[in-house]
Amino acid sequence: MTALTSLSFKLRERMREKPLVVASHNPGKLAEIEELLAPFGIATAGAAALGLAEPEETGATFEDNAALKARLAAAESGLVALADDSGLVVPALSGAPGIYSARWAGPAKDFRAAMARVETELGEGDRRAYFVAVLALAWPDGDEALYRGEAHGHLEFPPRGARGFGYDPIFVPDGYRETFGEMDPVLKHRISHRARAFEKLRAACL
Ligand code: IMP
Repeated sequence: MTALTSLSFKLRERMREKPLVVASHNPGKLAEIEELLAPFGIATAGAAALGLAEPEETGATFEDNAALKARLAAAESGLVALADDSGLVVPALSGAPGIYSARWAGPAKDFRAAMARVETELGEGDRRAYFVAVLALAWPDGDEALYRGEAHGHLEFPPRGARGFGYDPIFVPDGYRETFGEMDPVLKHRISHRARAFEKLRAACL
């Protein structure tokens, strides 16, 4: 890993001429990351648009999965790549669904079922939970940097609110009464795990 000042220089230098590859095939994620980068004048290109492969998430941690996605996209494209990996961690469930958060919803992406499974498995257990987002930057020369953000809170059932996505309707962030599913998205995007990870990346690199 290179010193932060030099990473910052390397990112700015590359961004002047070439787009940053967002190593995600998920159009929602791509749009969210493009929105976060737009104020910095950074042009982006999506992995799918560049015809890059979508790797299997075989890592044991959010960091491993974010890094493997960014590394592959940087190696295939020859460009700086940004990837993220995120999920809901419930300590009383030994960290589940964790890195398997998307997979708990199955191929049909049924988050009602995934939230019901969390409720059943938790029973009367401790309802504290947190979201994690890890952003990984990878350079084609092998340099890497990771930024982790967390949003802490607790779970409430039944699910409430039609905004957001995934596990938002059961997550109440500390200091609030609304679930992420009920909350104004502008507020959610200010206090979310992804916003916190991005703030670290911004402070280090932009
Ligand atoms: P990834 O594409 O492997 O990062 O999958 C992340 C999964 O974690 C998503 O499909 C959601 O289930 C869950 N997740 C991550 N961030 C959030 C969030 O902000 N709200 C609700 N669910 C989230």
